[in-house]
Amino acid sequence: MATNEVPVITIDGPGGSGKGTLSRLLAKRLGWHWLDSGAIYRLTALAALRHGVDIDDVPALVEQARHLNVRFGESDDGEASIYLDGEEVSAELRTEQSGEAASKIAACPEVREALLQRQRDFRQPPGLVADGRDMGTVVFPDARLKLFLTASIEERAQRRYKQLKAQGFDISIDALFREISARDDRDMNRPVSPLRPADDAVVIDCSEMSIDEMLETALKLAEEKGLVA
Ligand code: DC
Repeated sequence: MATNEVPVITIDGPGGSGKGTLSRLLAKRLGWHWLDSGAIYRLTALAALRHGVDIDDVPALVEQARHLNVRFGESDDGEASIYLDGEEVSAELRTEQSGEAASKIAACPEVREALLQRQRDFRQPPGLVADGRDMGTVVFPDARLKLFLTASIEERAQRRYKQLKAQGFDISIDALFREISARDDRDMNRPVSPLRPADDAVVIDCSEMSIDEMLETALKLAEEKGLVA
């Protein structure tokens, strides 16, 4: 199968909309590969921090992006395990600080360009579920099904709060709310690849939906497109 014939489902949306959990479960259900593109931006920011690279030093950031030494695996409980230079960094990547640093470097067109092919390389048979901000608009514009998830900021902050608390992080809901709003603002208003639904995306408001309902909805849409065996 030629790479451009490998079917792709894109799931874009803001932080805390549920796209990470949904895309991971959908990929598992279909037996397809999964791309967590936010993790790639988070890893680039973390690599820059660890190598003492200033967040405004564009050529050095691009170097980090080009030579990222990362590996994606899965832990026994089905969660993603992510390694940078051989060291597991999954927990560190999930913090809101890491999301904020990722959002800052993601506004730089040169960094986005350097990460483009790395993301497209995930398109392997039998299929790919790709989650991010610009999966349907820029990275996989020919995707067979594009979903765009939304949820109220209150609901997204609550979800993140519960997730981070469960992982043992000591955080305040007010601070989280402010950080998520600032990140939404930056991601939606940057000139390159801003967070927005593709013209042919199905927009789903997930504020009141459980993860099971989200998965059911996504599977039904995939079925309608002939993507479920
Ligand atoms: O999905 P996430 O919260 O892990 O993403 C972290 C940041 O990375 C997000 O605030 C903006 C950036 N990002 C992006 O610009 N484009 C993507 N496709 C994915 C993430």
